[in-house]
Amino acid sequence: MVLALMFLCLGSVTILVIPLAFRDLIDFGFGQNQKATGGLFADLSLNQRFLSLFGLACLWAVMISARYYTVSWIGERVIADLRSAVYGRVLLQSAQFFETLQTGEVLSRLTGDTTLIQTVVGSSVSMGLRSLFQFVGGMAMLAATSFYLFSLNLGLMALLIIPLLVIGRKVKKLSRESQDKIADASALAGEILNAVSTVQAYSQERSETDRFTASAEASFKTAIRRTRTRGFLTAFIVIAVMGSIIFVLWIGANLVQAGSMTGGQLASFILYAVIVASATSTIAEVWSDIMRAAGATGRLLELLHAKPAIAEDDEPQLLTQTGKARIQFERVTFRYPSRLQTAALDDLTFDIAPGEKIALVGPSGAGKTTVFQLLLRFYDTTEGVIRFNNHDVRRLSLQELRNNIAIVPQDPVIFSADALDNIRYGRPDASEEEIIAAARSAQVDEFIHRLPEGYRTFLGERGTRLSGGQRQRIAIARAILKNAPLLLLDEATSALDANSEILVQEGLDAAMLGRTTIIIAHRLATVKKVDRVIVLDQGRIIETGSPDELLKQNGLYAKLASLQFTV
Ligand SMILES: Nc1ncnc2c1ncn2[C@@H]1O[C@H](COP(=O)(O)OP(=O)(O)OP(=O)(O)O)[C@@H](O)[C@H]1O
Ligand SMILES: [Mg+2]
Repeated sequence: MVLALMFLCLGSVTILVIPLAFRDLIDFGFGQNQKATGGLFADLSLNQRFLSLFGLACLWAVMISARYYTVSWIGERVIADLRSAVYGRVLLQSAQFFETLQTGEVLSRLTGDTTLIQTVVGSSVSMGLRSLFQFVGGMAMLAATSFYLFSLNLGLMALLIIPLLVIGRKVKKLSRESQDKIADASALAGEILNAVSTVQAYSQERSETDRFTASAEASFKTAIRRTRTRGFLTAFIVIAVMGSIIFVLWIGANLVQAGSMTGGQLASFILYAVIVASATSTIAEVWSDIMRAAGATGRLLELLHAKPAIAEDDEPQLLTQTGKARIQFERVTFRYPSRLQTAALDDLTFDIAPGEKIALVGPSGAGKTTVFQLLLRFYDTTEGVIRFNNHDVRRLSLQELRNNIAIVPQDPVIFSADALDNIRYGRPDASEEEIIAAARSAQVDEFIHRLPEGYRTFLGERGTRLSGGQRQRIAIARAILKNAPLLLLDEATSALDANSEILVQEGLDAAMLGRTTIIIAHRLATVKKVDRVIVLDQGRIIETGSPDELLKQNGLYAKLASLQFTV
């Protein structure tokens, strides 16, 4: 910044000296003996004077490019930092944030908005600063050259400032609108591209294209309104500025005729006026660019300052490590923030002893996955307390809590990387042997060897090159590798055939050994071996006990067992 400022000042001084050189060339330059008798070039020959002028021009050029480089450098730096900061911030947000904000929209802000700011900061600000300096310096030189003409000029300029500000504000508003519309369109496209096979299976290509076109048209309309306003702004400024220059020149020409001003002075006044005028029009253009970027910046800052709904304690407690987790739910009631009228969990109380294996059973929508979401603290309870090893989970740091939980989610996520790296995600510092051992337990080994490059086979974006059951096994291997005190399995083996399930179950049994485990399952084979079953229905516990006890009770569990748990 210091360098940029220095080049900026030097460059501006140089260009402001050039008109003075012209003035003296005209007023003293054409004497008999070819030696100037006064002014900047006293005692120089005509050739030397022109050479000095050329030297000034070269100096100016060097300053311009040095300033351009330094200011652009700052711009690029700002954008790179801003991008990382916003991205980092977004990743910290809680589940609630992603329920309302679409991923495509975040992407559009990260790329589109930052690119807009980049153009503005990278080039417009550089031009704007240069023009600002030239404007101020030029005005000072105008005043010094002829105060009378300058005052006339100033009066005219004051008239221009107010409309400039009013129109500028409007451009800013329209610009924000148009960026919002673009973000909407990308959000839409992002969702559809992720689901393209469903779109094609239902032959909705046409209607999806129309939907996107409508969205793109909306952003076109706003952009055109902005451009129109901006075009009007530019025309207004050019006419006003040129008009006032011509007017002042006309007065100046009369002054020279009357002998109260020299020709050289008028010439330099004209040059200064041109400098000031071009600076003014650049400033106006840059101003509306900056207004445009201000719209985008506002949106980025919103993201940058977004506070995660899940707040961490300032001084989080350290988890008492026992190797096995104890989990307590104390009168937990929970409503999803987006659906406050119904309780997803209603007054839930249970206590899971260290090392215990629990099955959560219940009809679809009963709230089983929600229990896991709360354990991982993706949401906070509405009422009641969840304890992990006797600590209220809200008093632990998110990282520490989650480091102690391994989860196989209902729909496992595979990253676009190879199998080895996908399993390694469970514990990034694991050795290759440990990864392969985990893969063996999860029966990943069995199919991975048939892939062209074994563990190094690229699995496609979101694991599209794997079957559903294969994806589940990778996710299980990842959880086994993580080796955490609490293991959560959300229908982890639902996509496997009976035979593979028995094999994977062996691996899981080994992983569950001496660990607290909560299993959500729909099959008796999986549920039979647990210590205790908790039966949920509509967010409430309606039965609890060992699998055999529950069968005898002839309640919901017995009914589910006879209907869908088949061995
Ligand atoms: N993000 C959310 N916002 C609002 N409501 C939700 C959200 N996620 C789930 N729900 C609702 O909460 C209830 C419990 O959902 P949950 O996912 O816990 O069911 P589940 O027992 O895991 O069912 P399944 O066996 O089908 O997976 C459902 O009625 C569901 O519609
Ligand atoms: Mg579920």
